[in-house]
Amino acid sequence: MERLNLSNILEIKNLKRSFGGVKAVDGCSFEIESGKIIAMIGPNGSGKTTVFNLISGILSVDSGKIILDGSNITDNSVEERARLGISRMYQQSRLFKNLTVKENLLLVLDQRNFNFFARSKPSTEQTEQINEILDLFELNKKINMPVKTLSFGQRRLIEIARTYLLPHKIMLLDEPVAGVTPHLRNEISKFLTKLKDEGETILIIEHDMNFVYNLVDEVVVMDAGKIIAHGNPVEIEKNQKVKEAYLGA
Ligand SMILES: Nc1ncnc2c1ncn2[C@@H]1O[C@H](COP(=O)(O)OP(=O)(O)OP(=O)(O)O)[C@@H](O)[C@H]1O
Ligand SMILES: [Mg+2]
Repeated sequence: MERLNLSNILEIKNLKRSFGGVKAVDGCSFEIESGKIIAMIGPNGSGKTTVFNLISGILSVDSGKIILDGSNITDNSVEERARLGISRMYQQSRLFKNLTVKENLLLVLDQRNFNFFARSKPSTEQTEQINEILDLFELNKKINMPVKTLSFGQRRLIEIARTYLLPHKIMLLDEPVAGVTPHLRNEISKFLTKLKDEGETILIIEHDMNFVYNLVDEVVVMDAGKIIAHGNPVEIEKNQKVKEAYLGA
């Protein structure tokens, strides 16, 4: 039977994926319990985004298994995995630049009932949800502006809002603060802390250990496709293998 541990939202088991001779992901296993936030760190090219691509279905695995809330999703399509509860933020922006902030968020909020092209009216609840999150990010003034008029950091906030608003069981965030100014970085940090308090389950890729230190329950460290350490932030900070991976020793 696949249902092993009911409190695990996601389990990945011995995932492997190569590109030609490059073993991008070389036998990765870990679990995320419901309500936990796990950071994935590691040097450039260590395989972090590839793990996200395997979990979200952008790439197929060479071998291994992906279990979402007890169901084996290893062979499901990207769309099926999204419907089953994987909401993912990409390293590269996926927003529609000519649509407004509100239109971008409405598109994900209710893909079944809201017919954007028929210009049906969004429900009060949808509008409230969008207003609430834009208030939090102090972006309400931008609600009717095309996304292309926003700064890079503001677009990252909208991407995070989008990932959050999509119905999900787990959020996958790929470097949400990379290239973001200190002020907006702080906004993102506050929002992630709020999500933690709300009991969200999140897997976040981040290079900066300082950013995730007080946020996450566990840290998974990758190097050359393998997990070289997995523990709480205090343990990881002291770990000799992790120091060596970062110093390139
Ligand atoms: N679609 C692909 N085709 C060929 N090689 C790929 C592909 N995706 C990733 N790779 C290779 O796999 C390895 C891992 O890449 P990946 O993007 O997963 O690393 P990363 O840890 O996310 O790095 P970064 O911190 O720079 O984002 C790299 O050597 C990369 O060049
Ligand atoms: Mg990456």
